[in-house]
Amino acid sequence: MNDTYLNFVNSPFGARLVRSLGLPKPEVLRRYRADRPEFDGLLAVGAGREPHLLDTLAGVIARTGFTSVAHESAGLWVPLATRHGLMTGRFEPVEGGAPGRVAALVFDASGIENNAQLDSAYGFFHDSLRSLEKCGRIVVLGRPPEACATPRQWTAQRALEGLTRSLGKEARRGITANLLYVAPGAEDALEASLRFFLSPRSAYVSGQVVRIAAAKPSTTAAPFAWTQPLAGKRAVVTGAARGIGAAIAEALAAEGAHVIGVDIPSAHAALDTTMQHLSGNCAGNGAGNGTGSGSGTALAFDIAAPEAPAQIAAALDELGVDIIVHNAGITRDKTIARMSEAAWHSVIDINLSAQERIDEALLAAGILRDGGRIVCVSSISGIAGNLGQTNYATSKAGVIGRVESMAPLLRERGITINAVAPGFIETQMTAKIPLALREAGRRMNSMSQGGQPADVAQAIAWLAHPGSAGVTGQVVRVCGQSLIGA
Ligand SMILES: NC(=O)c1ccc[n+]([C@@H]2O[C@H](COP(=O)([O-])OP(=O)(O)OC[C@H]3O[C@@H](n4cnc5c(N)ncnc54)[C@H](O)[C@@H]3O)[C@@H](O)[C@H]2O)c1
Repeated sequence: MNDTYLNFVNSPFGARLVRSLGLPKPEVLRRYRADRPEFDGLLAVGAGREPHLLDTLAGVIARTGFTSVAHESAGLWVPLATRHGLMTGRFEPVEGGAPGRVAALVFDASGIENNAQLDSAYGFFHDSLRSLEKCGRIVVLGRPPEACATPRQWTAQRALEGLTRSLGKEARRGITANLLYVAPGAEDALEASLRFFLSPRSAYVSGQVVRIAAAKPSTTAAPFAWTQPLAGKRAVVTGAARGIGAAIAEALAAEGAHVIGVDIPSAHAALDTTMQHLSGNCAGNGAGNGTGSGSGTALAFDIAAPEAPAQIAAALDELGVDIIVHNAGITRDKTIARMSEAAWHSVIDINLSAQERIDEALLAAGILRDGGRIVCVSSISGIAGNLGQTNYATSKAGVIGRVESMAPLLRERGITINAVAPGFIETQMTAKIPLALREAGRRMNSMSQGGQPADVAQAIAWLAHPGSAGVTGQVVRVCGQSLIGA
């Protein structure tokens, strides 16, 4: 869908006008494109006392295209960077900042044990934030507070959430800020997540806290290529005919997966077109990819029909499946006093209960393979609630409950289950919202704009990645750091 205000303020005349009127100016976000380098430019590294993750970070930087510079707080960085063969230098704060110089800021706070040591984070961001370019990335690395040995350490690590979320709100200019809590022993499981949060793929994900645990050794992902990590994998995507579902299918196919797209019989023609497009050359649209080698198969089922789980299981049976994305969803908005029982029931059934029935069928028959991935689409309405959406918010909060309750049960099989909670995403679903509410939804976030289906799709591709085995039981908002439910 078209965001007229965003286009206007980024025209020469519009930019002058909004400056003179003091209006917000949303940045045109830099999104992933296969024909542009994913990682390049300067990455400034800072650290709090005796950091544990610099070695891992150096390895990741050596395998991507960044050049690193060290802030004085990262004393250990220079010998480490030298050992990893990284070009390196000192980060020199310039009086008044040097806008546009640095592509990413990474602060390793994993060694911080008490509040006084948080001063190093102040020093790093005080010196470097203004040097960050438009659409730059901020990643803070810490230890999960609940894994800390002392209350003081727990307190200081927990404090990083406030720091990171505030950085996202202060930085603006399309900059994202996210916090990764890496459990002791999970250092090797960090790379896929670190890449995602440093990449243009996470353009609309900000203010998020992600916990990375050690993956079970027996289920650690088999070797994969970073360019086609889903090669050889099979993925089911529900609601794949259009909108976010079509973008998910495209993103997973671009990573090499064979996608089985499911949608209602009346959307069969659109579903066929989406799947044929994947089976062609994946010439990118919303997901911004143009090189996918994946392919697609269309299944026209109503996921809420009683026979649907058996039908999907039968269609997948012989070859099994590695990834399930529960994306199909509907709204039937009315305040609860005016809502019909049918509107209540259909939303709960399609958005929530159908997911349970399909997963039960595929798990019981072993069709979802060990080491598999389940990704559910929730909503910030499921976190915050919303006027006129008691049915929808109930269903989307229930999705979060599914993720939380199933993650420990699936851990033994190396299967992860996570949810993404989109904010305002430009699709046919949100095009139906009355104009004033639609404008409010678009602007009430740190990016001052709505997200694209590809933003949700890229977050799902990260959670489906073989390198994301340490991420489970979590809800990641794709909302541009929306104020709603924050
Ligand atoms: N667009 C947003 O801003 C937004 C925000 C938060 C969450 N979401 C969620 O993202 C998901 C996709 O939303 P969208 O905006 O792309 O919606 P959409 O209406 O454009 O697409 C939904 C797709 O699901 C399919 N579908 C609906 N009921 C089905 C059923 N019973 N069986 C099979 N397929 C069915 C539809 O035919 C359609 O192709 C939904 O779960 C929605 O709740 C969207």
